[in-house]
Amino acid sequence: MEVVIAPAEELAVLAADAVEALLRRRPRSVLGLATGSSPLKVYDELARRHEQDGLSFADARGFMLDEYVGLAADHPERYRNVIATEIAERVDWPAEQVAGPDGLAADLPAACAAYETAIADAGGVDLQILGIGTDGHIAFNEPGSSLASRTRIKTLTRQTRVDNARFFDGDVDKVPTHCLTQGLGTIMAARHLVLLATGRHKAEAVHQLVEGPVSALWPATVMQMHPHATVLVDEAAASRLQLADYYRQTYASKPDWQGL
Ligand code: GLP
Repeated sequence: MEVVIAPAEELAVLAADAVEALLRRRPRSVLGLATGSSPLKVYDELARRHEQDGLSFADARGFMLDEYVGLAADHPERYRNVIATEIAERVDWPAEQVAGPDGLAADLPAACAAYETAIADAGGVDLQILGIGTDGHIAFNEPGSSLASRTRIKTLTRQTRVDNARFFDGDVDKVPTHCLTQGLGTIMAARHLVLLATGRHKAEAVHQLVEGPVSALWPATVMQMHPHATVLVDEAAASRLQLADYYRQTYASKPDWQGL
């Protein structure tokens, strides 16, 4: 696991560099897309590169991590709509090449199974962008999630609903109680994981993710088992890391050509 500690703007540029390198090398790459506020600067940077440098998503595929169950098709917080607004529609990405679990399906378990098949049929995810919840969840894999889980329905914790109430007029009761989410096993099958976290409220989750024991209590800790995981954090999110100085030295002495 590589840990990079830098200001948020620099982290976004690093993540965008990794996405750009992938797309330039192989335009038909498969990107894993996260919602939440953490990746927004990355999406801004990718949209800028599309506009100014001709970075193209025309042949790429995209798979979202998760979706609320039951939000109306035109609800602005439905993750499909969020991803369309924040990235897909700002670049040349055909809508039919970006998929998410169907939170409005009549048969939710069947929709989850179909989503797993769609990801596998696309050849798997090349680069997965991730955020982390304050309780250590990735996607919507709440504490207690099986480390081998696949896409399925989950119940959101009170903490996650409180955290996400800011997207629902500050009203926790408007936040759905259920979601569909890629499982930890699904996420672990992506070839490169790039997680972004900023702010002191993420410091404990980041400490556990990087340095805690692997445990379903802090689901993101499963990333310690991934052969290519990158954790991009600002100073505040890094403030509880025990080996912060070592991560800084390691990154400072890394050759430029290596990338993330
Ligand atoms: C939500 C999303 C996660 C995201 C997390 C953190 O629960 N399902 O994918 O990582 O929130 O959100 P934020 O980046 O806004 O802190």
